[in-house]
Amino acid sequence: MSPLDPVFQQALLARIRFYRELGIADFYRRPLDPALLARFTVPASGPQALLEAAVSGEGDGALAQGATASAPAVFAPEQPAASSVSSHIFLEEPQIPPRKPFFAPPQPAAPIAPADRSAALQLIRDEIGDCSRCPLHRGRNKLVFADGDPNARLMFVGEGPGADEDAQGLPFVGRAGQLLNNMIAAMGLRREQVYIANIVKCRPPGNRTPEPEEANTCVPFLFRQIDIVRPQVLVALGATAATYLLGSRQPLAGLRGHVHAVRGTQLIVTYHPAYLLRDPRQKKEAWADLQIAMKELGLKVPGRA
Ligand code: URA
Repeated sequence: MSPLDPVFQQALLARIRFYRELGIADFYRRPLDPALLARFTVPASGPQALLEAAVSGEGDGALAQGATASAPAVFAPEQPAASSVSSHIFLEEPQIPPRKPFFAPPQPAAPIAPADRSAALQLIRDEIGDCSRCPLHRGRNKLVFADGDPNARLMFVGEGPGADEDAQGLPFVGRAGQLLNNMIAAMGLRREQVYIANIVKCRPPGNRTPEPEEANTCVPFLFRQIDIVRPQVLVALGATAATYLLGSRQPLAGLRGHVHAVRGTQLIVTYHPAYLLRDPRQKKEAWADLQIAMKELGLKVPGRA
């Protein structure tokens, strides 16, 4: 690759960090901003190649299903570092386009009785049916509704099914799922004790981030699932989950470390397990987030009296 203008190179690296901060990992497949390109003289093949080189070996963003890295999916929590916020200097902060508002279904007036929750969830599954409400249905093998206990106190929300999930019809069954299972185990729970779902129920092609149209079409069903399960704590795995649960897009760094309120439950935001597979150094930060969830649930944090 020809040498690039160092300022341009820095701008690109700032952009990479910015997207990582948001938890968006497939940015390098997206076309570069023409306004940014117009400001620099770069070889035609340069910028995209630089981006691709910068993320090579880290697997596909899309949330891990395409990842080929052989790192084991272990979750060995360490104590969090004193500060979880890294400093970034943005030469060029990408503009975040405003999101179209989505329809948030009204919450039921009264909670669904625990004994009726399984049937209530099945009614939603039946209503979704052989869905063709958004373009994602075209590439789908199996729709991935959810997995776990309809009376769970803890619910995890990911972004969307990957290849393994699409094949099996269950969320988080690939490598990212193994890591999620280990994260759940580190909290002293079993996977069967929690409820797991995604923002979209059909696999985005190539594991890309769901488009707003797709997510906005699907997320009302997720809200109704949340309303039925009524978990005490919701954990958003990654920026896409956080964005659509909160209804606004903000950098993950600002969302982590706080307890948010969503549909009457407490929301904790952490990294997506696929991101942790690519950057295992962040596991201690994720563990710090899970400890917040454990505290809210009244679970004993290991190593604390
Ligand atoms: N990534 C997700 O976000 N969800 C899954 O179900 C699997 C991988």
